[in-house]
Amino acid sequence: MQRLVEQVAIVTGGAQGIGGATARRLAEEGARVLIADVDQETAAKNAATIREAGGTAEALAADVGKHEDVRAMVEQAVSRWGRLDILVNNAYAPLGGEGRGGALEVSEDAWDRGVDVLVKSMFLAARYAVPEMGRRGAGSIVNISSVHGLLMAPGALVYEAGKSAVIGVTKQMAVEFGPLGIRVNAICPGHIVTERIQERMWNDNPSGFRFFEEQYPVRRCGRPVDIANAIVFLCSDEASFITGQALVVDGGLSIQLQENFAVRMAHYIREHPDTKLPY
Ligand SMILES: NC(=O)c1ccc[n+]([C@@H]2O[C@H](COP(=O)([O-])OP(=O)(O)OC[C@H]3O[C@@H](n4cnc5c(N)ncnc54)[C@H](O)[C@@H]3O)[C@@H](O)[C@H]2O)c1
Repeated sequence: MQRLVEQVAIVTGGAQGIGGATARRLAEEGARVLIADVDQETAAKNAATIREAGGTAEALAADVGKHEDVRAMVEQAVSRWGRLDILVNNAYAPLGGEGRGGALEVSEDAWDRGVDVLVKSMFLAARYAVPEMGRRGAGSIVNISSVHGLLMAPGALVYEAGKSAVIGVTKQMAVEFGPLGIRVNAICPGHIVTERIQERMWNDNPSGFRFFEEQYPVRRCGRPVDIANAIVFLCSDEASFITGQALVVDGGLSIQLQENFAVRMAHYIREHPDTKLPY
């Protein structure tokens, strides 16, 4: 039985990767899905894939770091389908260059852009989405954080601060919007092998990939659908008593006390300075 029949969902960054799989899984459960992404072409392809499989989906070009785009995103979902039930704040692109590094290295512009996309986007989306959800007295917001929002690694100030803030905003909004019938949760994925990550990090580094996989108690990295399944659960009635939580979906990566992953990662990167990083 489908769990989200008739519901309307927005997935930011839903063209590919975790967001792409999430859009497809939500549609499989009966939701009508608006895919909002800066990459309009790939977003349109994912929407077409969903429609070919019998689902309902549309794509919209939107940059979640920009106020007007976020407003247009919510307006489009509501004007097209008359309601809004689910919002998945997932979009993010690595800043690269001057956005990489610690507090003494990142540029102020990179900090501003990172915080806009990772954190301000949630506040902007809530401004427009919550009144729509509140009208029906029900809704679910899922924010994508990371294990990097819980455990810090060196040299990634913007990403790690941003992903920590995602959890804080999630908890605050859960308290604020709970009385309106709206639940707000975060997910902290471990390393998820998306199309882009496979290409950028691992195609030419199979031994690095084996190293990564060996750090997991389950001896594999995650797949986008692992996160999509958790999001579907959090949006379903089965999760109606769950709010304000940061659900870790990481194959047990972060529960290991000994041989801490972040420390081993730091050693590995020092020994292999050409390693490409996911953030
Ligand atoms: N893949 C991982 O290992 C992993 C682990 C933990 C957390 N995450 C988080 O999961 C989310 C998705 O990551 P992914 O690996 O699937 O990425 P991805 O690069 O495969 O997909 C991200 C999508 O977001 C879009 N996007 C980027 N910036 C945007 C913006 N400003 N506005 C709208 N769309 C934008 C991109 O065009 C792309 O389609 C991110 O928030 C990421 O930080 C990923």
